[in-house]
Amino acid sequence: MAAKIISLGHTKPTRKISNQYFVEMGLDTSDEWIKERTGIHSRYFTNNEKASSDLGYEAAINCLDNANLKSSAIDLIIVATSTPDHNGFPSTACLIQEKLKCPNIPAFDISAACSGFVYALSTAEGFLATKKYSNILVIGVDCLSKITNMEDRGTCILFGDGAGAALLSQSDTIDEGILLSTINANGSLANILAVPKGGSKHPFNETIAKEKSHFIEMDGQSVFKQAIKLVVNEIKQSLLSVNLTPPDIDYLICHQANQRILDKICQNLSIPLEKSITNIHKFGNTSAASIPLAMSEFHNQTGFKKGDIIVLAGFGAGFTWGITIIKW
Ligand code: COA
Repeated sequence: MAAKIISLGHTKPTRKISNQYFVEMGLDTSDEWIKERTGIHSRYFTNNEKASSDLGYEAAINCLDNANLKSSAIDLIIVATSTPDHNGFPSTACLIQEKLKCPNIPAFDISAACSGFVYALSTAEGFLATKKYSNILVIGVDCLSKITNMEDRGTCILFGDGAGAALLSQSDTIDEGILLSTINANGSLANILAVPKGGSKHPFNETIAKEKSHFIEMDGQSVFKQAIKLVVNEIKQSLLSVNLTPPDIDYLICHQANQRILDKICQNLSIPLEKSITNIHKFGNTSAASIPLAMSEFHNQTGFKKGDIIVLAGFGAGFTWGITIIKW
């Protein structure tokens, strides 16, 4: 038996932010530069009242509605996020559990940055294999706008907020569902994308607030190169281990970081760009939400067909990465 996604859902905040917004805020950038170098036309930011647990809850409800199931059907909640409602605890998964009113089930967060959703899928697959769980809710949610320095033009134009959710259960056959999931990390690259201060190593204080070192800092070019190299290698290896080749892929859904990264991954795998599902132009980089958001939006609008080979590819801070190969 394999783990299978039986439903998808997503949500976005209501506040749409154009590229021009940053120009109007006084940043030395332009709509043309952002579109040309990233492919991003807009993104969504949450208002002050909303946090990751709110978006995660909305995506979960959308996912349950699409499955025609009530929250009582869920027996485990896994939330991938780098922007939990609270630093430390309680976990965002527990807050979402309370909003969903499904008490007395386990709920926990996973921290793997923009690879969080594929890490969570892989974790859910393992839990399903124990046969102790039937319906696992996996949520990818982030509000990166809340940890971004809006004066840093190298990062703030990239990120947006959103949430996506998937409900996983066991399929009756091994010939459908998750054929393979891989997760990987290389901590020696931790410094190329980080939130340097505000954690237990440098607890938040006034100096940190002034330096703005509790916000995302990134070596954009290193991230760009590592992402392409690691993802292309991992996809090639993963396909081989399930006797597939790049032409067998019907849809490739990469973490939506930069349109140029997505195009390069396709080029290096000789996959036509039409097979790459993208929505970065609308949402920017929504971190752990980006893959389920793209999957759910595509499934709503076009629909995956039985037998489609779908490859998910996550990558992000850590450095972390992972691949999920799904036969729909
Ligand atoms: N508007 C205008 N100019 C900008 C800019 C902006 N928003 N951001 C950077 N620049 C400038 C730089 O300051 C630099 O100027 P200089 O030549 O005077 O020093 C110039 O553009 C080129 O900078 P560079 O860093 O080489 O640009 P780039 O083409 O690599 O694009 C990123 C920068 C951040 C868009 C790109 O590196 C990227 O997307 N990296 C991956 C980021 C990512 O995916 N992060 C998340 C992973 S999960």
